[in-house]
Amino acid sequence: MNEVNYYEFTPQMLEQLPRGAFLSVRAGDKINTMTIGWGAIGCIWFKPVLMVMVRYSRFTYELMEQASEFSVCVPMDNSFKKELGIAGTKSGRDIDKFEELNLTIGPGQATDAPVIDGCGLVYECRTVFRQEMNPEYLDPAIKAKYYADDNYHVLYFGEIVASYKNK
Ligand SMILES: Cc1cc2nc3c(=O)[nH]c(=O)nc-3n(C[C@H](O)[C@H](O)[C@H](O)COP(=O)(O)O)c2cc1C
Repeated sequence: MNEVNYYEFTPQMLEQLPRGAFLSVRAGDKINTMTIGWGAIGCIWFKPVLMVMVRYSRFTYELMEQASEFSVCVPMDNSFKKELGIAGTKSGRDIDKFEELNLTIGPGQATDAPVIDGCGLVYECRTVFRQEMNPEYLDPAIKAKYYADDNYHVLYFGEIVASYKNK
């Protein structure tokens, strides 16, 4: 691991995450963002890793399957509340969320993933592993509560290649 401290903002990130963060991805000429509330940050394969969970039904899933990079932008100070609500209920199949929400995309520092200008903390990630959930191994109570419709998540493990506070 190099001298950049990828874990510096972890407490703030984990506090905000259940309230929402933006997972953004680019695949070819398509870009999209959606709200996520679950994820994990840690050290795997001696790499700083951020894991996000995307259900099969999401447009984001289609793009994540084609892309090798993604960004997670974590709003700070209760900002972007309205945007998180809309990005978490509307699909990129139906609207251009960046345009609809007036979100400006800035260049990433280390990836081509879209980064939302002015949005708090940024994690730019390179997908190093993906994993479909196997319901056989899932706690039945969690299965009943969150997956009654079989719309499971796919887990994407991203090596954090840049993390910084956005302007
Ligand atoms: C607070 C909040 C957290 C969410 N977390 C997740 C998540 O972690 N994974 C997921 O697949 N969907 C999550 N969603 C739902 C998606 O954001 C929502 O279905 C979105 O419209 C999908 O957009 P897309 O079709 O453009 O990908 C969340 C929604 C909200 C409001």
